[in-house]
Formats: sequence, structure tokens, C-alpha cells
Amino acid sequence: MDPLYLTTPIYYANAEPHLGHTYTTIVADVLARFWRARGRSVFTVTGTDEHGDKIAEAAARTGLAPQAFVDRISATFRSTWEAAGIPIDHFVRTTDAEHVAFVRAVLGDIHARGDIYFGSYRGLYCYGCERFYQERELVDGLCPDHRVAPTEIAEENYFFRMGAYQERLAALFDEARIAIVPDRYRNEVLALLREPIGDLCISRPKSRLAWGIELPFDDRYVTYVWFDALLSYVSALGDRRDELWPYAEHLIAKDILKPHAIYWPTMLLAARLPLYRRLCVHGYWQMDAGKMSKSLGNVVRPLDMKARYGMDAFRYYLLRDMAFGQDAEFSEVALVARLNGDLANGLGNLASRVLRMQQSYFQGAIQPRTPEGVDDALPAAFARARGESEAHVGELAFHRALEAIWRALDHANKYVTDTAPFTLAKDPARRPRVGAILHELCEGLRVAAQLVEPFLPETARRLWTMLGLPPGRLAALDTPWGTAFAIGHRTAAPEALFPRVETLPG
Ligand code: MSP
Repeated sequence: MDPLYLTTPIYYANAEPHLGHTYTTIVADVLARFWRARGRSVFTVTGTDEHGDKIAEAAARTGLAPQAFVDRISATFRSTWEAAGIPIDHFVRTTDAEHVAFVRAVLGDIHARGDIYFGSYRGLYCYGCERFYQERELVDGLCPDHRVAPTEIAEENYFFRMGAYQERLAALFDEARIAIVPDRYRNEVLALLREPIGDLCISRPKSRLAWGIELPFDDRYVTYVWFDALLSYVSALGDRRDELWPYAEHLIAKDILKPHAIYWPTMLLAARLPLYRRLCVHGYWQMDAGKMSKSLGNVVRPLDMKARYGMDAFRYYLLRDMAFGQDAEFSEVALVARLNGDLANGLGNLASRVLRMQQSYFQGAIQPRTPEGVDDALPAAFARARGESEAHVGELAFHRALEAIWRALDHANKYVTDTAPFTLAKDPARRPRVGAILHELCEGLRVAAQLVEPFLPETARRLWTMLGLPPGRLAALDTPWGTAFAIGHRTAAPEALFPRVETLPG
């Protein structure tokens, strides 16, 4: 299996991590865990984008020097992912010395080959996006993203001959050398390519913005956001670049589709670097049908959610209620409904019923399976859940993957009701049957723990411990049904996986 190099965007170091950043980073974590459990080697990178007007302005507002300011914000991002239980292989910063050196080397190369030129430019600039807009891209004269009128700017600058690569770029998408998923975003990119893409302004005069990377061929200018930030995907790999870069897949939201689908491949072509493989684009989390913003006071902080509901419940909600690629509306009420329903009543209740009976009838000791106790439909339901959920993760349809797993959990809960071990247990002669039923159900819980691990890592670990299984076996997905537990193996007394939340938020 090819290795996988998975990136999130590098987030602007001008404010603390919120729901949107958290979603993309969680998706990276789900994919990393999913593929690792299936034997694929995965390397993940996230980080912070630390140069540019926006950052310099945010620093000025706090009275800190830009470097001190980005040190602080960057540390917050890093510690947030750590506290949220999202391990990342490398955290890149655009102020890292290796990154700065790499950007300067690439700029020098492209300039030497004639793909960067000096010219004057007048255009409509959005500070929020840190890019120029063409008139036809505006909605009612406003930036479609920030809903503010762009500022007209005229100045001399350096330009990257992006337009010269337009035909080669279109061919890359036609030949599927670069995949863009879901399809709707590929179509959006193909539509953009029907118009001339033009050249890209890549510099700022230092007189206006000093907080950037100085151009190697003109010290009056710095480069900023896109030429700087996109290259971090490569610079982050250090000496593992040749090994990993050709297997790159980027996770982003739709807001930064154009820089990733148009600027970035042309930059790679000009720099003579291999292309990335796939661009995975998700929609936006909306708040009350609008944007999340500090001024509206509706910023959702990941660690607040963790404190209130537990990280796994938050992850489950985000992955279950957003169809990757489409927008979704964030609602804490909906989160609580998922927590109390799917998690507490679905998975939590199954685990506690089964492990409680196992304790009270057999002191936790696993009993033999008997032909009479075997219900083929139960292992079949879990085998189906595995097949379907794997196919759905392959298409990034995480909500469908979870649905498929929950169908098996529903089946298991129904199996408990139908076979009624709690009734049979009253008759001592039926005890072997009860033991056999519980053995089947423990196998169901074992497979459930393995299937939910990428989505709910902490829950999977806790369930695994309650089942008394060795931690190293959690990734052993191919353990045949009926072989995970030796007879007499002891399961532990259950503790609630998901305490219900009785008070509604708001
Ligand atoms: N620094 C640039 C990216 C450079 S990548 C080489 C940037 N930073 S950002 O902080 O604005 O992050 C944008 C990304 O954050 C989105 O693409 C997405 O991954 C995530 N999200 C931020 N808000 C979001 C929502 N409301 N909903 C979903 N994800 C969004 O752009």
C-alpha cells in the first residue's frame, strides 16, 4: 500500500482554534487512524500560517511584536490538538527557519527561470482573504467570503506567470493526475479554468508590509500568504520530502479551493516539484445560518466542547452531522441529541447491558459458544458494517460510515432483546445458552470497538479495556469472529461510556 501524507491547512495565527479548524484536523486524525489500522503508513502535518497583514494587525492590537504574538497563538494551536487527543506527526510554522529558507530557494529558482517578473498592478484587494479579486468574482461588489468591499490598490510588485501554466493545469485535471473530491468542487475548478486565470501577485513592498519573507532577489519586497503558506506543505517534510511528498493529500474547506486547485499546482509545475495527489474539500460549519465570529460571540472552542460533552461525543457529532463536501449547521442541541441517542442509548447501553450480565451471571468469565447460541445474523451484521464503513471512509463519507456501524449496533441491541438472556438466566438449565449469547455479544463489542476507533479513539480504548483485551490487539482487525476471547477470559465491570446530558444547552 502506498504511504499517505495528509495535511490540514496551516491555520492563520491571528486567533484561537475554533470549530472549523477542529473539524478539518479531526478528519485528518480519523483518516490517519483508519489507514494505520489497515497497515498503511501515514504522516500528518498541521501548523500555523504566521505572516501577512492580518497577523501583523492582530499583533498590533495586542501590543505584542509579531513574532511574540505568533509564538503565543501557534503554541495555543499546538496545545489544543494535544489536549483534544489529536496526535500530529509534524507541526509546521511559516516562521520556521527551514521553511523560510525553502521558500527563498524556490522563489530564487522560479525567478531564475523567468517565471517571476516585476510589474505594476492595480486591483481590488480583500485583506481578509489576502488576495486580489477580479470584478466578476465579487458578489454585489463585495468579497463573497468576508462581505466587505475590497480595497483598490495600485503598486509595483512581483508576479508569478501563473497564466502560462493554464493549459497544462487543465490537462492535469482531465487526466486525473490531480483528483479533487467531492465532484462538485472539481466541477467548480473546471469552471474557473474556462476563464483566463491570469498571473499571481506574490509580493508586498516592505514599506507597506514588513511581516513576510524577504524576496531573495529584491530586499525591498517580501512574499506573503499563498506563496509562503502553500510551500509549507513541502517544507514541513524536511529530509523525508522525496519519500513522502508524491503521496500528498490535502484536506481543506471550500474557502481556499482556488489557491489549492489553481495557484498550488502551477507553483509546483514552475518549481519542478512533483504534484500532490488529491484535494479533499469539505463544506462550512454555519452558525445560525451565518458565520462564526468573535464579534457575534458565537465562536465554538474545541476544548469547551470537550469539557462539556467529552471529545469523542464532539467528534461523533461533527462526523455524523456533516456530509463531507456540504455545509452543515452547528447546533449544540443536535449534539446533545446524538450524545444521548446514538452514543448513550446505542453504543453505551449495549456495552453496559452485556458487560453487566456477564459480571452478574459469570463473574466476567467468558463462556463457551454453543451451536445453539450462535446467531449467524449477528457476525454477518458486523461484517457488513465493516465492509460498508470502509467503503464509505474511502469516499470520505464519514456520516455514512458511522450509520453503517450503528446499524450493526442496533442489530446487537435487538439481539439482546430478542434472545432475552436476562429472562433465560432465571432458569439454571439455560445458563450455558446465556453464556453463549453473551460470548457472541462480547465479540460484537470487540468488533464495534475496532470499527469506531478512528472516530471515537478514547471510547474504543475504554471499551477494549472493559473487555479485558490486550491494547496491542485493537488494530488486529482480521481476528476471526469467535476467536478473540479464550474460555474463562475475564471481562471487567462496565462503567458508563457516555453519561447522558439532561440539561439542554442555551
Ligand atoms: N492560512 C490559510 C490556509 C493556508 S493553507 C496553505 C487559511 N487559514 S484559516 O485559518 O482561515 O483556515 C481556513 C481553514 O480552516 C478552512 O479551509 C477549514 O479547514 C477550516 N475552517 C475555518 N472555518 C471553517 C468553518 N466554519 N467550517 C469548516 N471549516 C472551516 O485559510
